[in-house]
Amino acid sequence: MTWDFAEANPLSESTGNFIGAIDWIAKVVEISPYSTKGFVQRLDATKSDIYAKSIVVSTDPPYYDNIGYADLSEFFYVWLRRSLSFIYPDLFSTIIIPDKERELVATPYRFSGSKQKAKEFFETGLGETFKRMREMAHDGYPLTVYYAFKQTETDDEVSLTERKGNSDSRASTGWETMLEGLIKAGFSITGTWPMRTELSNRTVASGTNALASSIALVCRPRPETAPSATRRQFVNILKRELPDALQKLQQGNIAPVDLAQASIGPGMEIYSRYSKVLESDGERMPVRIALQLINQTLDDFLAEQEGEFDAETCFALIWFEQHTFNEGLFGDAETLSKAKNTAVQGLVDAGILTAKAGKVRLLRRDELPKNWNPQTDNRLTVWEATQHMIHELQDRAGNQGAANLLSQLGTIGEAARELAYRLYNICDRKGWAAEGVAYNSLVISWPEISRLAAETEESTPLQMALL
Ligand SMILES: C[S@@+](CC[C@H](N)C(=O)[O-])C[C@H]1O[C@@H](n2cnc3c(N)ncnc32)[C@H](O)[C@@H]1O
Repeated sequence: MTWDFAEANPLSESTGNFIGAIDWIAKVVEISPYSTKGFVQRLDATKSDIYAKSIVVSTDPPYYDNIGYADLSEFFYVWLRRSLSFIYPDLFSTIIIPDKERELVATPYRFSGSKQKAKEFFETGLGETFKRMREMAHDGYPLTVYYAFKQTETDDEVSLTERKGNSDSRASTGWETMLEGLIKAGFSITGTWPMRTELSNRTVASGTNALASSIALVCRPRPETAPSATRRQFVNILKRELPDALQKLQQGNIAPVDLAQASIGPGMEIYSRYSKVLESDGERMPVRIALQLINQTLDDFLAEQEGEFDAETCFALIWFEQHTFNEGLFGDAETLSKAKNTAVQGLVDAGILTAKAGKVRLLRRDELPKNWNPQTDNRLTVWEATQHMIHELQDRAGNQGAANLLSQLGTIGEAARELAYRLYNICDRKGWAAEGVAYNSLVISWPEISRLAAETEESTPLQMALL
């Protein structure tokens, strides 16, 4: 994390300018119908005596070790104290920020470097907080929890050790701890909404595949009578119910970078319906394993969409997963192409592949033929459509260039968007962040590209008449 602060030019009108920032805050204050009666207090959420009875809880809890808020606040506190302590003497009564040690954060340096102790402190504190919330929350209203944490972001030694021997390593300690806390406190997750909350220009998002959404988890107390389920039952219900939820997320154009996080919600809705999900040895299945099974179902869902792609695209997907745009052996390509019901020469003719001196590789986007016209391409593939659109978007005429292509692509256009989800998923698993950005960007830009494509289609007959 880069710690910096900006001294905005008060006369500037660019994004993040001084007046704009004041305006945002003013909007939030004005939005509340009770704003005149609102008040803020700094209290320790883990302490049992702070909650009144029958409250409505909506919370954005800390994300494991993601951000040290107390450290961050201290960075500014010492400066603010100098200029504001005579206006707010109570707020600035201490030399450094108070109660720092009560902050729920899994940072080992607070525990003489012990990751295990930091983990235990965080888990116990968060679990205690959710239990208190469960006791005090009003029956008529759900608890809502906002959570924006990428599943693959936690990479500490604790989880690495646990991951050994697991086929899927993507369940994160942050998500796991938060969900275990909620479920052990007696909550079921009854709904989830991805919400666009994160700004793409924030410091940790710049040039990365940072999340665009927070997930709002809607939780209700789990009935005492909730039944248990076996692992097999849980997996079957996941397979039956999750694809529908994933399809809705894709139809809503969720960013590929957010899809894995967003799928946790509907998956956990199923898991937390039961008092317990039991493994074959009678042990309770932990959230970590449930998250891995949800990830697996997401992979299967995306892989099944391959059935809708042409043979050349199916070849390119597998080749890409093994080699990206690097060279591989001709013989391997030939075997794979036969399995996919196509041929190396066909792939070369289709403008996807180059084959020379016993080596083949996928064409990079900057090598794609210029002035490509989908309407005159007699071997039109979804792969080319996706790569050409990204090339237009990133390196050439931007949204308008991609829109011009989309208006000529017909139904292949929608398949190109689906392929972008699949390719992002592969890049994410393989850790190819830069290539992943390309596919994520295409989906994020899709609403604007489609709008421009519709305009282009409307204006085309007129242009032809003028010609
Ligand atoms: C993810 S942040 C919330 C950010 C906030 N929604 C925003 O947009 O600015 C989590 C917050 O929990 C606070 N927190 C950590 N431990 C706490 C505790 N024991 N009691 C109360 N708040 C705590 C952190 O200081 C941090 O402000």
